[in-house]
Amino acid sequence: MRRPRRNRKSENIRKLIREHEVTVNDLVYPLFLTNGNNKNEPISSMPGISRYSEDNLLKEIENCMQLGLHTFILFPHIPEAFKDKEASYSYDEKNIYLKCIKAAKRNFPETTIITDVAMDPYSSDGHDGLVKNGKILNDETIEILCKIALAQAHAGADIIGPSDMMDGRVGALRSVLDQAGFQDVSIMSYTAKYASAFYRPFRDALDSAPKLGDKKTYQMDPANQAEALIEAELDYEEGADFLMVKPALAYLDVVKLLYDHFDIPIAAYNVSGEYAMIKAAASNGWIDEKKVVLELLTSIKRAGAKVIISYFAKQFAQYIKG
Ligand code: PBG
Repeated sequence: MRRPRRNRKSENIRKLIREHEVTVNDLVYPLFLTNGNNKNEPISSMPGISRYSEDNLLKEIENCMQLGLHTFILFPHIPEAFKDKEASYSYDEKNIYLKCIKAAKRNFPETTIITDVAMDPYSSDGHDGLVKNGKILNDETIEILCKIALAQAHAGADIIGPSDMMDGRVGALRSVLDQAGFQDVSIMSYTAKYASAFYRPFRDALDSAPKLGDKKTYQMDPANQAEALIEAELDYEEGADFLMVKPALAYLDVVKLLYDHFDIPIAAYNVSGEYAMIKAAASNGWIDEKKVVLELLTSIKRAGAKVIISYFAKQFAQYIKG
């Protein structure tokens, strides 16, 4: 009789045959920024996560690096007064986001900084694109995204992350970066980004919810899987270095699909709503938080994501340090 249980008979054997194991090297920790000094503004729908001013951001990066975490993705909270239709503050030299990238790379040159190329934190419409007569304009948005990406590359970004879902943006960004001499700046494209209800806590954190309408004309329909392949083929052809699926947990089939079809690293974004659900259940004592977090991160890796962006990254690093 074939007895698969023989391979589970001890912890040593289970470890010996273990197919997937998450390490801190797989993880990217998102950090939220705000202006001012000595600020630490907790986000109520994301327990354990705060917006940091530049000084505290640097302290947080240092804490994380001591835990072995070295890759960060940054998002800014921008006061309403700095927002306009064209998101022009996004590439303004005085922008706190650009200042924080510079400070992070100056103080910790060995960190990897991933940026967000998107208009929504800076847009008075709260959209990822330029809005005209209720429509999101594709090609006009790309011109703005190119300015954002160049400003971020100048500030020292290692990897830029276009999260907007406009058509043709990866190719356009690659060519402006190359022309400006930034051939070494990588692109982690939000390839299959779904119009998801799981982004709510993030929009609270950034105060970036759309003022009118929703994001369904550019983000993907949660019902579609095959369409993710079209997005992935385009981003691959246009020169993306990583293909990202977002959200992660409700879309592990899409992670696996891209993993099976493409030979560049797949990233998965374990988003704010996924984090908030675990935190809420754990704070009620309904689940064992540590065990659930380890299981979920492992399942994302098992599905084929080499890079896992997660608000649990720091907690994971603390668990591993014991
Ligand atoms: C927008 C952006 C969003 C997230 C990352 N970049 C939200 C959105 O598309 O509305 C969500 C991340 C999360 O929920 O953790 N450019």
